[in-house]
Parts: sequence; structure tokens; C-alpha cells
Amino acid sequence: MTDATAARGPRLLIKKSVEQVQYESGHQNLKRTLGPVNLVLLGIGCIIGAGIYVMTGNAAANYAGPAVVLSFVVAGLACAFAGLCYAELASSMPVAGSAYTYSYTSLGEVFAWIMGWLLVLEYGVAAATVAAGWTGNVVSLLANFGLQIPPEFTTSFIQAGAGPGGSTIFSGGHGFNLLGAGGILGVTALLVLGISESASVNNVIVMVKVGVLLLFCAMGLAFIHPANWHPFIPHNEGGMKYGTIGIFRAASTIFFAYVGFEAVSTAAAEAKNPARDMPIGILGSLAVCTILYIVVAGILTGMVPYRELGGPAPIALAVDRMGPAFAWFAILIKVGAVAGLTSVMLILTYGQTRVFFAMARDGLLPSMFSTLHKKFRTPWIGTMVLGVVIAVAAALLPIDILGNLVSLGTAVAFAIVCISVLWLRKARPDLERPFTAPFGIWSPILGIIGALVMAVPLLADMALSVIKGDPIPAIILVSYIVLGALIYLGYGLSHSRLAKGLGQRSDDQDAGPGPMQAELHGIGKDRAD
Ligand code: ALA
Repeated sequence: MTDATAARGPRLLIKKSVEQVQYESGHQNLKRTLGPVNLVLLGIGCIIGAGIYVMTGNAAANYAGPAVVLSFVVAGLACAFAGLCYAELASSMPVAGSAYTYSYTSLGEVFAWIMGWLLVLEYGVAAATVAAGWTGNVVSLLANFGLQIPPEFTTSFIQAGAGPGGSTIFSGGHGFNLLGAGGILGVTALLVLGISESASVNNVIVMVKVGVLLLFCAMGLAFIHPANWHPFIPHNEGGMKYGTIGIFRAASTIFFAYVGFEAVSTAAAEAKNPARDMPIGILGSLAVCTILYIVVAGILTGMVPYRELGGPAPIALAVDRMGPAFAWFAILIKVGAVAGLTSVMLILTYGQTRVFFAMARDGLLPSMFSTLHKKFRTPWIGTMVLGVVIAVAAALLPIDILGNLVSLGTAVAFAIVCISVLWLRKARPDLERPFTAPFGIWSPILGIIGALVMAVPLLADMALSVIKGDPIPAIILVSYIVLGALIYLGYGLSHSRLAKGLGQRSDDQDAGPGPMQAELHGIGKDRAD
């Protein structure tokens, strides 16, 4: 098919028809091999990373104290309603491109672009964030073997420090996190060569990640000092530091820990039974991680006074505190963290390259992002360009700024997905929906409210920082938005293949499976359910 069956309308709101999207997806010949167990494991593989290994400690130390466990409940609920909306769209449009494609069919091109640009935060910037957390754990692991890397090579150029009233103050000139940048370049090289995770590798890493955290919980129980849980909700110390408001502020930070569950929706075209398995995969992985996170956070804050948890590797710190007899366990925890974070870095960087791949196929980005290497069959130029950009971000920016950008971008992306559900239910009531989010319009509405609850404290914090004379995070966010607008206006608007009445670029249809699919999940290699 070369002619696009686009639903026409105002230029910026031009839409792909659901039928066109289903047609494009149908020509990717994906095998339907994923069952519920693999989908849940796939979700957990994307979810568990720097959020629990690093940010839980920061959120407890700076915002919520032991009540960070409540923050996990709040963030988990917000994700659950968005997850129901993802499940509805993924079951009716089991296609590549996920949220980007949903927006193209429901709200139109400019929203698809915005979604694609938000996914850069959710994948690319998230990969840089995980690299920052990875660095902390690698440094801590090497220290166990007496190896010290000079901090100038493991500390980002901009660093966060505690300001008054729970605010964060940023300053520059601390060094460059070359270790984290190197980690990103390493996974980029693997992706250029086409070595991405197969399902069995993912399953092993998931077992290691979950196993190590369960062991931490089991062994940590004996080292809990209940006094550390008092007060459970520390008194507010001004701004968003502690108190009820601190619980919500912490929720928007550890929202990052849940990022990744929606990646299950990108495997919809490979699910054996999307109607049944998408909700199970998305909500099942979310439920497992929510319970695990709550238990880990409870035990962590019971083991170490919350004010001491602000460092780069809080779980490793808690294990170090168990004493020299548990040195072996400390090493095991750190190995688990490094392995788990490496896999999340790989998956997120992969996801970023494939989102740009999908956008380039639609003409919204230059074709270099969808040009395939002759031998490796990977979008190698785009992957290298993105790898370098993500590595630079990891070298320059601290986990605090990066993580907040990811949480903000993801919250807005979730809201757009929920709006897409509402829009499609009204505009296309006839659309076959094998799975419908329950509670009528309330699931998407609660999803939007949940996204706002995640985003507002971050924006408020940013505004507070500007008022206190620290505009760095706001400058980064505004520059990012302006850059996105310039690229769309300067390139996407005039090159959109849909607007020209063309289908997706045919050169990359040769690639076989579409974005975020076959390679990532090991199609045809070793997947079994
Ligand atoms: N949820 C993922 C993490 O915590 C992105 O690293």
C-alpha cells in the first residue's frame, strides 16, 4: 500500500486511520508467540532499575521519610489507571510505535510529534538517568575490591545539593560522569551490532533482579530498628520537605521507578491473545513491582535512618551496614543492581532508537534514523547519534534533574494516552475493543488526574527553584520544548509522509519487525511461554 488512508482534517491534526495503522502492522509478519508469563516478565525487566535501587533512598531522605512507602502506593495507583488505558489501546491497535501511534490515530500529527518527543524523555533521558544510578552502583561494587575511580570521572558536571525548605540547588563544574557515558556507549555498540536482549536473557536478568531484592528483604528483616520508622510521616520542614505534601513530592520522584510497564504495550502485535494478555502483562508487572517496591522501601527505611539514604547507592549502603560478616551479600546486591541496571539501560536506549525509527518512517524525522545497516539490519546511524547524545546527557546531568524530566515527560505522555482513549471511544465507538478499561470514562479520567498528581509537584518544585535563583532545571525543560517545536516546524511539518499522501517508507519495511518488537523480545530466537 502506498496511499495512506488518512483521516483528513486541519493540517496539524491530520490523522492516520486506525485501519492504516493495522495494515502497516499486519505487514510486519510478527509471530504471536508471547503469552502472559513472558509479558509480565518483559514488563518487570523494563521496570525494575534505578528507581528502586537509587531513587527510593533519595525520595525518603529529601521528601517523605519512611512514608515513602505511601508514595509508592500513590504512584502505583496513578500508573494503574494509565495502564488500563494502555491495555485498551494495545488490544484494539496491537501495533508498533505504541503511544506515538495511538496519538497519530486519535489526536493527530502534532500530538503524535509531541508524544514522540515525550517518549525521548521516557526512553532516552531515562537511559541517561539509569546510567547515573548505574555509575553509583559500579563505583560501590569496585570499592569492595579496593578499586577507586577518581570522582571527577564518576560525577556529573552539574550536581545537586540540598537547599532550604526541601529545595534542591544545582551547581556546575564538578567533573564528568565518564563512567556512565561509557556505559551508554557500550550498550549503544551492542545495539548497532544488533545484539539486543532475547527473552531468555531478559528472564534470567529479571530472576536476578527480583531474587536479589527478595533476598534483601528476607535478610534485612533482622536488621530493622523500628525506631527508624518514627515518625512515619516526618513533620514538614518547609516547602515540600516531609509531611503530607512530601509524600506526593516523593511519589512524583519514584514515579520513575514504574516507567517501563507501558513497554509491554509495544509487544501487543506479538501477544498470542492481546485481549487477555495485554491487561495481564501491563497490570501484572505493575502489581508485582508495586508490592515489591513497597516492601523494599519499608525495609530500607527500617534499616537505615531515612536522612542518611540520599547517596548514590542506598540499598548497597543498607547492606554495608549489616556488617563485615555480610560483605559477600553486599557484593551480590551490587552485582544484581549493576546487571539489572545494565539491562534497563539497554532496553531504554533500544526503545529510544525505535521510537525515532518509527517517526523517521513517517517522515517526521530525517531518514538517517530509519536507515538500516546492510549487514546488521539495525538503524545504525540513528543509534550512534542517539547513543552519543544520551552519553553526553549522562556525563553532564545529575540523576535528580534527569529523573524529574523523565517523570514529568512520562506523566504528560500518560495523560495523552488517557485522552486518546476518551477521544477514540467518542469518535470510533465501532472500533473493536477486545479489552475495555473498566469503570466507563472513569479509568481515563482517573489516569489523567493521576498524571497531574505526578506532574504538578515536579513543576512546583521547578518553579520554586527558579524563585530561589536556581533556574537550571527550568532552562533545560524550556530548551527541550523549544528544540522539539523547532524540529517539528523546521522538518516534520514539511516532510510528513502522511500529509503528502504517502504510506510509510518502504525501504525500512524490509526491516521486518517494527519498533520495540522482534529484536528486543527475541522473536524467533528462544522465546517460549
Ligand atoms: N523504571 C526504570 C527504572 O527504575 C526506568 O530504572
